[in-house]
Amino acid sequence: MFPFLLIVLLSLSWRTSASAQPAQEFLHCLSLRFHNSSSFAKLVYTQHNSSYSSVLKSSAQSLRFTTPSTPTPLAIVTPLHAPHIQAAVHCCRKHGLQVRTRSGGHDFEGLSYTTAYKVPFVVIDLVNLRSVQVNVEKATLHFCTSKQSCYWCCAKLLLVFCCNAGQSLTELYYEIARKSRTLAFPAGIGHTVGLGGHLSGGGYGVLFRKYGLGADNVIDARLIDVKGRILDKKSMGEDLFWAIRGGGGGSFGIVLAWKLKLVPVPANVTVFTLSKTLEQNATELVHQWQYIAHKLPKEIHTSIIISRVNSSENEKMTVQASFTGIFLGSTDELVPLIEEKFPQLGIVKEDCFEMSWAESNLCATQCPIGVSLETLLERSQKSVLSKTFFKAKSDYVKQLIPESAFQGLWPKFYEDGAKFASMVFVAFGGKMEEISETESPYPHRAGNLYSILYVWTGKKRKIKLLTSS
Ligand SMILES: Cc1cc2nc3c(=O)[nH]c(=O)nc-3n(C[C@H](O)[C@H](O)[C@H](O)COP(=O)(O)OP(=O)(O)OC[C@H]3O[C@@H](n4cnc5c(N)ncnc54)[C@H](O)[C@@H]3O)c2cc1C
Ligand SMILES: *[C@@H]1O[C@H](CO)[C@@H](O)[C@H](O)[C@H]1NC(C)=O
Ligand SMILES: *[C@@H]1O[C@H](CO)[C@@H](O)[C@H](O)[C@H]1NC(C)=O
Ligand SMILES: *[C@@H]1O[C@H](CO)[C@@H](O)[C@H](O)[C@H]1NC(C)=O
Ligand SMILES: *[C@@H]1O[C@H](CO)[C@@H](O)[C@H](O)[C@H]1NC(C)=O
Ligand SMILES: *[C@@H]1O[C@H](CO)[C@@H](O)[C@H](O)[C@H]1NC(C)=O
Repeated sequence: MFPFLLIVLLSLSWRTSASAQPAQEFLHCLSLRFHNSSSFAKLVYTQHNSSYSSVLKSSAQSLRFTTPSTPTPLAIVTPLHAPHIQAAVHCCRKHGLQVRTRSGGHDFEGLSYTTAYKVPFVVIDLVNLRSVQVNVEKATLHFCTSKQSCYWCCAKLLLVFCCNAGQSLTELYYEIARKSRTLAFPAGIGHTVGLGGHLSGGGYGVLFRKYGLGADNVIDARLIDVKGRILDKKSMGEDLFWAIRGGGGGSFGIVLAWKLKLVPVPANVTVFTLSKTLEQNATELVHQWQYIAHKLPKEIHTSIIISRVNSSENEKMTVQASFTGIFLGSTDELVPLIEEKFPQLGIVKEDCFEMSWAESNLCATQCPIGVSLETLLERSQKSVLSKTFFKAKSDYVKQLIPESAFQGLWPKFYEDGAKFASMVFVAFGGKMEEISETESPYPHRAGNLYSILYVWTGKKRKIKLLTSS
């Protein structure tokens, strides 16, 4: 007992003394390089600052990594511009500290603000890098209103949008919507997801069957490398530019800003959601969807959210599959199309709602028809994953799953811990089918039928059991 305690105490004191020194040296180094002492005092937080903890937790989406046992940074730097980041990178290197870059803080494993290894580190939080510039060149778009094929005649136009890495997806969508109802950027749906991490990992959303991933639509980037140099596409070279568009954030440098290509969308898109329980043939429908969804026209994005519910008829527990879709066209075009390709779903006009593409992003969880676009800017916009204890992982499906396998899966949803478990199927195909595995670091392209996102949310105690096994 006693020797064990001694070892613990010794290792604790070793840890604190080992980290106190680099912290002071780092701060000293940084203060010299910040020049302006007043901005240094405003932008750098250490564990002694009363707001350190709230700043650290501010954008951390997974509460799994905000517990007292989570390793925390020696300092958080919240730069206002590139020289602040260059200074932080320089001083971290000089004093042997690891850098964690944070944009939106949505990393599933908290990689932007903690570490699984016991190494001292500093968080560079890009929360203040939010300015945007819209530069719609040659914006002479002439969309035909009815014939679908007409939307894409102008797709070659270079519509450029510059944004800083600290910007969130919906802030970007809002800025685009303010300029044009018929322009969009093909990235994800998570409201507060940061562009820094999102585009670094690929970024898929409701337009990816038509236009590819967010990363496929990056024209240029400004990156700070390990030596503190600011590079663009030309100066960083082909390989590095390839790597930062899908190779994973935090590995190759700090992206300051992206230059993005916007894509055309019709003035209104059509959104639908149809929920079916097991009693309403959900098993057959999910099974059949696998054959159909990846072959639908590129203008249709479909997904299925599967979770457990109480049946509205008899209050008995059942599994529900919610089929959702977004179509780049009108209800009148969509309904006959789905009736033809997927008649079993039984879609009717009343299941469909027309709205602008920007507004359709408010449907990520539930479609609040008729709310203002400003809702996109609400940082408190909630998704199932925000600010909860969650564990999420993805699979990519290349072979059809037999119906019997789904039947075998459903009882898992009735288990005690599965109350808030869900599976999200997202149809691939379309443009993704045309891109080879090596064209970008994101390899899940041709040959993938759909992806599965497994999500578990719940109480902290249970997630420990799950993640340790
Ligand atoms: C609620 C929610 C919804 C989501 N929806 C979607 C979706 O619709 N589609 C989709 O594809 N994904 C989605 N994701 C996954 C999301 O795209 C990734 O988790 C992404 O990495 C988050 O980016 P971030 O900037 O918010 O995260 P962060 O945690 O800040 O960063 C993630 C990783 O990127 C690094 N990084 C951050 N900023 C930079 C930068 N400027 N330069 C270099 N590296 C950087 C970090 O160090 C970390 O390793 C969702 C996640 C959540 C939690
Ligand atoms: C120093 O920073 C403060 C706060 O960021 C700013 O108000 C001030 O103008 C800066 N001073 C100089 C000389 O740049
Ligand atoms: C952190 O605390 C120091 C010392 O009290 C103070 O000078 C500095 O302004 C604080 N920084 C922030 C960002 O609050
Ligand atoms: C389920 O499918 C069967 C045959 O495939 C059909 O007869 C039945 O009406 C369907 N039930 C519901 C609720 O749609
Ligand atoms: C579902 O039913 C169970 C027991 O039958 C009940 O405890 C639970 O609160 C119900 N859930 C919902 C969302 O109604
Ligand atoms: C989009 O759809 C809404 C709801 O049906 C309708 O009120 C609006 O006029 C449509 N706008 C355009 C530009 O077609």
